[in-house]
Amino acid sequence: MDIHEKEPLVELEKGESPRAVRSRERWMPWTDTGLAIFYKIILSVAAILLLGYNFCCTTRPRLVATQVEGVPQFVLDYAPLTYLDTAEAYFPSDISAQITYTHPAINGSSMHEDEDEIPTLNTTNLHILNKYGENGTNIYLTSNSDITSSPSWLTGVVPNSTTGKTSNAISCAIIIYPKPSLSVTDVFYFYFYAYNQGNTVFGRELGDHIGDWEHNMIRFQDGVPQAMWFSQHNNGQAFTYPSLEKLHSGPGRGKRPINYSARGSHANYATTGKHDHTIPDLNLPNGFIIDYTSEGALWDPVLNAYFYNYNGSTNTFEGINGAPEGAMHYRGHWGDEQYPIEDPRQPDSFFGFVKYVSGPTGPQDKYLERGDVCPGNGIPCFVRDRLGP
Ligand SMILES: *[C@@H]1O[C@H](CO)[C@@H](O)[C@H](O)[C@H]1NC(C)=O
Ligand SMILES: *[C@@H]1O[C@H](CO)[C@@H](O)[C@H](O)[C@H]1NC(C)=O
Ligand SMILES: *[C@@H]1O[C@H](CO)[C@@H](O)[C@H](O)[C@H]1NC(C)=O
Ligand SMILES: *[C@@H]1O[C@H](CO)[C@@H](O)[C@H](O)[C@H]1NC(C)=O
Ligand SMILES: *[C@@H]1O[C@H](CO)[C@@H](O)[C@H](O)[C@H]1NC(C)=O
Ligand SMILES: *[C@@H]1O[C@H](CO)[C@@H](O)[C@H](O)[C@H]1NC(C)=O
Repeated sequence: MDIHEKEPLVELEKGESPRAVRSRERWMPWTDTGLAIFYKIILSVAAILLLGYNFCCTTRPRLVATQVEGVPQFVLDYAPLTYLDTAEAYFPSDISAQITYTHPAINGSSMHEDEDEIPTLNTTNLHILNKYGENGTNIYLTSNSDITSSPSWLTGVVPNSTTGKTSNAISCAIIIYPKPSLSVTDVFYFYFYAYNQGNTVFGRELGDHIGDWEHNMIRFQDGVPQAMWFSQHNNGQAFTYPSLEKLHSGPGRGKRPINYSARGSHANYATTGKHDHTIPDLNLPNGFIIDYTSEGALWDPVLNAYFYNYNGSTNTFEGINGAPEGAMHYRGHWGDEQYPIEDPRQPDSFFGFVKYVSGPTGPQDKYLERGDVCPGNGIPCFVRDRLGP
């Protein structure tokens, strides 16, 4: 079912692809009753009345100028910087470690038991899984340990407070998609987290998942940044480049846009404060289901990245400086499949929402081919020229 035919009352996870939405709906059929609509209206009115929004922000200087062979300088000069929330518990994580701590499974059974020929998987060869199941799309990298026991690999790596680097963790994939006939280059800055902690609603934590891919995309025209996309839950927001907050000092001063990562969910916002996402795509400052952003640890994704060139006509990734391509071509999911309600790890559902939902698919499934700066998912694209929540 297409997500526009019937929009969920609230959205709690970030599956941007129709496939992810379908997989969620298998477990959580919605009934959009009159009561639900009434509820939605009451909540939006309450959210508007509660308007109260904190703006802040001086940014801390630091950071060195970067050059990477084979990467156009504008990709680095204008790369977003990310502030993690002060209360964040789940940090950027090493992409290859996710493969080490998991095994591939289809419909709850490990493929290592059924498919003897599967070698030890890593970021180079992960795409060999695409020949199994439904061309790989129903494969889930599934935790080797019980995640309710909070294994330490889920928490990721805190960025160094001086450099913004996540030591020993490559937690970003920067995908460069040149469109020479238009003089346009779309640059996707993808961020990887081992774990997404969902929002807490009436004391219940909902929509957690293992594996989390978030992204910003900056569209460049002749090397000049035009607009930037921030992924948030099922969709996101776009802003013109001039409207964005930039780093205030240091080598990236006045150029590098600041991005704030929401606590736990890692949705990306252009401002600090509270962001309500009770109503999809309408971010109100106060409300029912809230993302929080603030100026916690500063993370410089460029220092911890694999770089790729993307070819849209062949849908292929070419690793720059030997970046492993298998992880980009893999079509499956980066975390466990949603646990059925009978599973002892899955708490009782709450108005149809559950605590553990399925892990997301990777960058190749995030609409790399875009007409507008927004994903081509059918939701209208508004490019805002003023910052807001
Ligand atoms: C998935 O597994 C369940 C229970 O293990 C089984 O009943 C079902 O038929 C399986 N589905 C597919 C598509 O293999
Ligand atoms: C992945 O494993 C293969 C052997 O199966 C090896 O050739 C390759 O170098 C490994 N890649 C990485 C990134 O470790
Ligand atoms: C897998 O991909 C092939 C080639 O694109 C396609 O013909 C086939 O229908 C796909 N199979 C499934 C189960 O999606
Ligand atoms: C952070 O990076 C600086 C500069 O490389 C280094 O001197 C320092 O030891 C690092 N801090 C930690 C906690 O690793
Ligand atoms: C912003 O930060 C969040 C969290 O770290 C990340 O998911 C997102 O991709 C970042 N975007 C940019 C442009 O840095
Ligand atoms: C993309 O791949 C096609 C087919 O291999 C090739 O003709 C084209 O030149 C490639 N595009 C770029 C930008 O490399």
